Amino acid sequence: MSPPIGPRTQLCGVILHPAGHTRSPAMHNAAFAALGIDAVYVAFDIAPAGLGEALSGARALGVRQLAVSIPHKQAVMPHLDAVDATARRIGAVNTITRDGKRMLGSNSDWLGVVRALERETQLAGCDAVVLGAGGAARAAVFGLLERGARVRVLNRTRVRAEQLVADLGANGAGSLADLGGLPCDVLVNTTSVGLRENTSPVPAAAIRKDAVVLDAVYDPPRTRLLRDAEARGARGVAGKWWLVYQAAEQLAAWTGRDAPIETMADAFDRVGANPT
Ligand SMILES: NC(=O)c1ccc[n+]([C@@H]2O[C@H](COP(=O)([O-])OP(=O)(O)OC[C@H]3O[C@@H](n4cnc5c(N)ncnc54)[C@H](OP(=O)(O)O)[C@@H]3O)[C@@H](O)[C@H]2O)c1
Repeated sequence: MSPPIGPRTQLCGVILHPAGHTRSPAMHNAAFAALGIDAVYVAFDIAPAGLGEALSGARALGVRQLAVSIPHKQAVMPHLDAVDATARRIGAVNTITRDGKRMLGSNSDWLGVVRALERETQLAGCDAVVLGAGGAARAAVFGLLERGARVRVLNRTRVRAEQLVADLGANGAGSLADLGGLPCDVLVNTTSVGLRENTSPVPAAAIRKDAVVLDAVYDPPRTRLLRDAEARGARGVAGKWWLVYQAAEQLAAWTGRDAPIETMADAFDRVGANPT
């Protein structure tokens, strides 16, 4: 049980726009309760034009930690006192942690990808394919390279995949249609295809039967890509686990404590069952 809200209660939250049905407050508040941490976590709907003012307000109010979501992950960087080397290399901040008066930017998305995949497989030496070349792809590619995988990036707009590969030192770029011809032990979808619709970024026949497939999209929980992958005998990893592990790393960055993974995953499921 969390302590009752009082004068020492710390404020945490997520800044995003639009706020929609974010599951972060449910996951983090469940973790605070399980660990007995005196903090509350809320969602702040911040339009891009209000980002600077919102961060000044957070600074003045002593907000302890902020998660940063779409569309602020790049724009937030100049407003911070420091951004760590990993977040700079990925090119995005998804976590702001207060240290005294300073606000420090970091990125836990890459660890979310890696830890979600490591539920099913080892990554060192494997052939990985990342679909997409946006912010989530950069975190995924960084994480896979960190773990010693060979990484190819396929994207609708091929030139963006080529740029990402050049920036992060990955192993090859192409178009989504190239998937079937590539070695692929691990497949990570970071395109937004499948979000609240029954579509997949790639045809089922292009998915290797022995692959592990992680979908960044978590609404619906079992996307078309995951269903196609499992129907072919591949192992699916739901986007929920990426979200849960990146949140767990945020909590650890502040408190130094291991986050209660199953408690956070249960909270994610409860919001999904009752999205209002
Ligand atoms: N599970 C998690 O914890 C987690 C974490 C981060 C992100 N996500 C999710 O990952 C997704 C991507 O986020 P992001 O920040 O990387 O977004 P982003 O920077 O806007 O990138 C979007 C990517 O999707 C591709 N795309 C969009 N529509 C497409 C279509 N109709 N066909 C093929 N490709 C299409 C884009 O290709 P082009 O370059 O050709 O436009 C681009 O590669 C979102 O759904 C986000 O919610 C989940």
